[in-house]
Amino acid sequence: MDGNGRWARERGEDRVFGHANGVESVRSAVRAAGELGIDYLTLYAFSTENWSRPRNEINALMELLVESLAGEVAELVRKGVRLCSTGDISALPESCIAALRNVEEQTSDCKGLTLILALSYSGRWELTEAVRRIVQAGIPAEFIDEDTVRKHLSMPDVPDPELLIRTSGEQRLSNFLLWQLAYSELHFTPVMWPDFREDHFKAAILEFRGRERRFGRTGEQIKSPTASPGGEIPKAE
Ligand code: FPP
Repeated sequence: MDGNGRWARERGEDRVFGHANGVESVRSAVRAAGELGIDYLTLYAFSTENWSRPRNEINALMELLVESLAGEVAELVRKGVRLCSTGDISALPESCIAALRNVEEQTSDCKGLTLILALSYSGRWELTEAVRRIVQAGIPAEFIDEDTVRKHLSMPDVPDPELLIRTSGEQRLSNFLLWQLAYSELHFTPVMWPDFREDHFKAAILEFRGRERRFGRTGEQIKSPTASPGGEIPKAE
């Protein structure tokens, strides 16, 4: 969700104004994802690196998060959206943790879209935590394979994203879901996050649905998967 700060500055406003306007884009994305029948949507709301921002911006973001969670919970329940979080949640202010836990609990039985907020998150943090947990579990080196690592990630039951969307013209992963994005498609758009609304989201998904995903195989193997060695093509989630 990139470009809030620049969007605000272009309007002669404080960066926080951009974040506040970005909340409406979050609503739009959740609405569009629900309408398109998407199962999982992960929003990179606050990275590990974002802790180095000015204190007033961090505080404003945390307040915005608490306000948004409290204000949206009824709508999330109504829409059947289950809210989860990933990241070093213990590093967040108490008020944020309480607000998150409250919404997670209230939406825990929802069966529609799973909305994951990545907060105080980075891919390297997650991988470091996974290594720590593997060592703590005393798993011998010869038994460690990709599946072991996957099972020790923060949300092992969540499928890898099919599509990463990054707004604001930047073309980087910025430490997001480093393991999970291995085979994801990438969509970069110059649109700043506060301007990125339902139509942009839907257009990105439509364009993605037209792409051929090969997962390292040839075009011929994709066209007739049963005729090729190596088993089935991973199913798109
Ligand atoms: C990146 O733009 C955006 C963020 C660090 C915060 C995103 C937060 C929100 C949209 C609001 C709250 C979220 C929820 C889930 C309710 P930037 O500040 O890096 O923009 P810049 O690159 O233009 O400086």
